[in-house]
Amino acid sequence: MCGIIGYTGKRSAVPIILEGLKLLEYRGYDSAGVAFMEDNGLKVVRCAGKIRHLEALISQNPQPRSTTSIGHTRWATHGGPSERNAHPHQSGGTVLVHNGIIENYIQLKKDLMAEGFNFKSETDTEVICHLICKYSRSLPFEKAVLEAVKELKGAYALAVMDESEPGKIIGVKKDSPLAMGVGLDEYFIGSDASAFLAHTKKALFLEDGEAVVITPEGYRLIGPGGVLSNRKPVVLQWTPGMAGKDGYKHYMLKEIHEQPHAIADTIRGRIEPEKGEVTTSSFGMPEGLLESRKKVMIAACGTSWHAGLAARYMIEPLASVPVEVDIASEYRYRSPVIRPDDLFISVTQSGETADTLAAQKLAKQSGAFTLSITNVTGSTAARGADAVFFTRSGPEIGVASTKTFSAQLAAMYLLSISFARALNKITAEESGAMLQELMCIPDKIERILNQKAQLEEMGKKFIKKDHFLFLGRGINYPVALEGALKLKEISYIHAEGYAAGEMKHGPIALIDKDMPVLFLIPARGALKEKALSNLEEVKSRNADILIITDSEDAREFGAAPENVFCVPGTNPYLLPILMAIPLQLLAYYIGVHRGCDVDQPRNLAKSVTVE
Ligand code: AGP
Repeated sequence: MCGIIGYTGKRSAVPIILEGLKLLEYRGYDSAGVAFMEDNGLKVVRCAGKIRHLEALISQNPQPRSTTSIGHTRWATHGGPSERNAHPHQSGGTVLVHNGIIENYIQLKKDLMAEGFNFKSETDTEVICHLICKYSRSLPFEKAVLEAVKELKGAYALAVMDESEPGKIIGVKKDSPLAMGVGLDEYFIGSDASAFLAHTKKALFLEDGEAVVITPEGYRLIGPGGVLSNRKPVVLQWTPGMAGKDGYKHYMLKEIHEQPHAIADTIRGRIEPEKGEVTTSSFGMPEGLLESRKKVMIAACGTSWHAGLAARYMIEPLASVPVEVDIASEYRYRSPVIRPDDLFISVTQSGETADTLAAQKLAKQSGAFTLSITNVTGSTAARGADAVFFTRSGPEIGVASTKTFSAQLAAMYLLSISFARALNKITAEESGAMLQELMCIPDKIERILNQKAQLEEMGKKFIKKDHFLFLGRGINYPVALEGALKLKEISYIHAEGYAAGEMKHGPIALIDKDMPVLFLIPARGALKEKALSNLEEVKSRNADILIITDSEDAREFGAAPENVFCVPGTNPYLLPILMAIPLQLLAYYIGVHRGCDVDQPRNLAKSVTVE
């Protein structure tokens, strides 16, 4: 996820762009750049690092006088953080900034190189630039842009300038957010309204397939097919402080709601359901690597460890490869037996967790092949592993991991299918069906999010509780652990996750009417009956029961309807993703109603870079 901004009007544009980029920095902050018109043509200034580095670079020269400019702050997906991978990218007289992922950029790059275009970066974005430049040879600027984007597959929000038409910026939107701000004889484009809210609250949010042309004289909104649209801007009731959260009260709530996009972006361009294949380049592992693995070792911390635990319940049944999962801070002190034909996986959102990095280093030194599943391009974990799978959740600002947990589970699901196909444990038809179901998950998450009011009501009943138990079995046991972690780190209520079958071996002594117990119960499968009997064991001791299930019939559990939350059905391996969403929302609402700082809980940090 990156931040893009454009300005055209009568004021000096670059200072406005720089201020706007600072407000978009939460969307990505590994490199940045601006482009503006100078008397002698287009000028581009870019650098690795944060906006303040870009500001320092610009201040080394006379203040630009341009009244039209575009800017970008990057969250690297293709190509590490560097000056040459930073945006804006330029081809001939065309310059642009992009937020999104171009799925077919490799083929487009080959075709454009064959036509003589020279590429300077590793990014997918650069192909868009050269494509527009190519069309500009025979079409005017606006038409060249609209024709070029027809060749793109994937997600993009663009702001494009061309020195042939100074003062004009064209914005185009598909699957990545883009807003236009309408000021007084000045117009803005931004990834979200926070980019320009300080200047105007009059905004228009582009829809997929729309383009907008802005000049100091006005704007034209162009609908799909090039037809002018008369859709009008709205006046936002946001404060600048709210805008960085897209109007949500907290980053955590915003990021919970970003999960459909996080999953969609993580799988984008990486699966071929019709062939039942996960594209081999997805994990960056050499051909034949998976076939040669005798064991998988996973090490991680916190939420990422829960994703690793869930992975064992996917890889072992699907691929019949043994999996060991360790808390990273324990891994290297247990003298693990690591062999060259092991696959070691580090799971780490930040890519900077010291314990996880140390585990990865030990595994690599011991000869295992190391794969890192991380959310941050250019992170230490990414650079230190033999192969990397980047989840594409965008920056996660809230300390509590939410969207990155879902993306990690999706990554593990893809890896399990890759493993099972490589070892011929499942047919192409079976894996195709599994991949089709994965593609339905974003919509199923949306359906859960639409029922968040029910979860807020559920949560209100427990804000005075001091303890909470989360119970699950099988692949939903790690989800129970995750639900407990979310609650304790956000609301400071003591919470424990347990394997439901383990309760009778001691913890059931805790049960009384003051002990809320949340059960994760699948609608089908061998463990359902076991979970139901565990439920009866707990109910008979007067516990306050909550149930999360994918059953269509909430009455089958004999609990009060207001204490049962139903998620859409899916296959057992994807159910953890759907079960986790209500747990995140429950923790969020309980934390908010307890007056906790849900984005920055006490004693915690987003990335634990010390051991
Ligand atoms: C989870 O909500 C916490 N943010 C924490 O447990 C986190 O998952 C853990 O510190 C691991 O972080 P990482 O994924 O960046 O390695």
